[in-house]
Amino acid sequence: MAVAIRQIHPVFVGEVSGVDRRPLAADEAAAIEAGMDRYAVLVLHDRNITDEQQIAFSRNFGEIENSAGGNVTKPHEKRLNPLMNDVSNLGPDHKPLPRDDRRRLFNLGNQLWHSDSSFRAIPAKYSLLSGRVVVEKGGNTEFADMRAAYDALDDETKQACDGLVCEHSLLYSRGLLGFEVTEEERAMFRPVRQRLVRTHPLTGRKSLYLASHAGTIVGWPMPEARAFLRDLTEHATQPQFVYSHKWRQNDLVMWDNRQVMHRVRRFDESLVRDMRRTTVAGDAPTVEQAEAA
Ligand SMILES: [Fe+2]
Repeated sequence: MAVAIRQIHPVFVGEVSGVDRRPLAADEAAAIEAGMDRYAVLVLHDRNITDEQQIAFSRNFGEIENSAGGNVTKPHEKRLNPLMNDVSNLGPDHKPLPRDDRRRLFNLGNQLWHSDSSFRAIPAKYSLLSGRVVVEKGGNTEFADMRAAYDALDDETKQACDGLVCEHSLLYSRGLLGFEVTEEERAMFRPVRQRLVRTHPLTGRKSLYLASHAGTIVGWPMPEARAFLRDLTEHATQPQFVYSHKWRQNDLVMWDNRQVMHRVRRFDESLVRDMRRTTVAGDAPTVEQAEAA
């Protein structure tokens, strides 16, 4: 059976069929990668997979990103293999984390629009999220097409954005929620630089590279930078650019962090929501980094 992709939103997002659970053949992986270039988000249903199968599937698209330095969970508190990003609401005992648990409060940052790992000097290429246990109500993942958002800017704003460099850090996104970090975390979350407008290496399409992690623009006064970034984010997340994914158990949703932003919506956190992410590493920084302080 050949890989087939059906577009399910007016500007992006494809639903994939014709992929079974055995390892992908090279032409199937190439068809999915071409689908990612075009649709930026792909949805696969009925993928009842193990962590090992998810890791193997993800490796078709590049190296798995090391998850170290991207959260406040200590190594001994981890529930999953270090190659997996645990984006559930669960502790190592597989029970929902208590309301005031720091790990839970940190993870609430996923409700803000973002691009995974934009706070790393080499930001992520793809994320692949597997819905192992999903909730009935709430918990949708929303995606915004940052290519369509860029295309819809007026020429003056496009010119204002081109060439700008932002600083991204988990300190900025978590700061928006009033989350307090330790000194050790502050050092770990040191800001990195990212281009505000990215060009896709294959399609040549431009996109806005925004995230709640973006806290300032190099060379700009911070309040002016934040007001501008907020304005762009409001533009980029208008309903015509957004797809809301309602999870079914065993859905696997993959997205290109270079071309979309995403966020999770609220849900009843007394319920188990077991979501597991693999992240495919990017291959280069978007811009030269500042000298280490
Ligand atoms: Fe995310």
